[in-house]
Amino acid sequence: MSSADNLIFHVRPGGCLTGNLRVPGDKSISHRSIMLGSLAEGTTHIRGFLEGEDSLATLQAFRELGVDIEGPADGEVTIQGVGMHGLKAPAGVLDLGNSGTSMRLLVGLLAGQGLALTLVGDRSLSGRPMRRVTDPLAAMGARVETTEQGTAPLKIQPVEELTAIDYRLPVASAQIKSCLLLAGLYASGTTRITEPAPTRDHTERMLSGFGYPVVKEGATVSLNGGGKLTACDIDIPADISSAAFFLVGATIASGSDLLLKHVGINPTRDGVINILRLMGADIEILNRQDVGGEPVADLRVRAARLRGIAIPVDQVPLAIDEFPALFVAAACAEGTTVLTGAEELRVKESDRIQVMADGLQALGVDATPTPDGIVIQGGPIRGGRVGSHGDHRIAMAFAMAALRAEGEIVIDDCSNVNTSFPGFVALAASAGLAIESKKEN
Ligand code: S3P
Repeated sequence: MSSADNLIFHVRPGGCLTGNLRVPGDKSISHRSIMLGSLAEGTTHIRGFLEGEDSLATLQAFRELGVDIEGPADGEVTIQGVGMHGLKAPAGVLDLGNSGTSMRLLVGLLAGQGLALTLVGDRSLSGRPMRRVTDPLAAMGARVETTEQGTAPLKIQPVEELTAIDYRLPVASAQIKSCLLLAGLYASGTTRITEPAPTRDHTERMLSGFGYPVVKEGATVSLNGGGKLTACDIDIPADISSAAFFLVGATIASGSDLLLKHVGINPTRDGVINILRLMGADIEILNRQDVGGEPVADLRVRAARLRGIAIPVDQVPLAIDEFPALFVAAACAEGTTVLTGAEELRVKESDRIQVMADGLQALGVDATPTPDGIVIQGGPIRGGRVGSHGDHRIAMAFAMAALRAEGEIVIDDCSNVNTSFPGFVALAASAGLAIESKKEN
């Protein structure tokens, strides 16, 4: 990053969050809508698509693979599906930017296409572990090379065919599960994936929506290769992972009363609501409905006093992206919050345990990292300057901390907020956060 790229958030202390708002579309569902729409037979119309850099990286990759995709325009995308075997070799490498989901799902989807392809990413993505997907793909007969460190670039070589595997995931990861299910579409036999704990199931739900039979039995999901996808219309709900910043912000800022519209509340994603409620948050779930196979609701959140808790380990995979925001809630709670069983946070867009602990400490909060979690003692939050390490969720979490801070919070390196939440600054300001973003040279 050159210094000219340093986008800085300045957030003045105090205030509260009020009004009605809709945060942008779900990132996980947006990625999958492009992938399955591209492989389907017929035309897929998408509404509510996330126009953030991560999902746009997936969209661009499929354009480079020869798919005709119109949009996005105001969240609408139209895909002329090419069928299961219609992708074409791209002219160059596929650059997936900061997006781990794009890389891990695409390597599975592309491993059995009979094409030679290279997947690359930015500095953060190029440091993230990829053997967790390339090892089981190799067991299916795929040929994918990583660097010696097991990282991207990923070089895919064509193979004659893939063979289904019966695989027990070593970590609770929807990205690994989805990677192998997508590879399984091209494998002979039945691919069976067993997870150690439930993880987001958008791939399974969307495959069913496209007419592809998927069987779920307990912790195991399976599908037979060789089927086809039939185009459909997809209405993408607002992303609960983006709503999470506002759930925390409104909870910690006295006087807040906020309605978050049309949020996806899939039970494999609702850990943030469960954890905040256990801490004493006041979150009402209104207007529940089913939208295209995904549960959706409006969330009303009002300020509440929080108490520290031991976060139940079974909630960890259900809230895996929401911990930066939850750590801010913990800093505002009375007593101690203890997180365990969350070592995965160390290999996200940044090491979210260390980076959050460093930032909280810089703001005067007693936060002690542990190998698989953190211990946070609630107390006053001072003003100060923190680094986001280019991690979108760290930047937005610290922005919300200003609602309870004693002085201004300045957050460095915030341009990656655009990967998941374009328009964050304007939307947060419209709800009452005193935030400004500035470029610094
Ligand atoms: C995602 C799965 C999660 C999550 C990521 C999106 C997905 O990753 O952190 O932001 O869309 O499948 P892991 O599966 O690695 O936990």
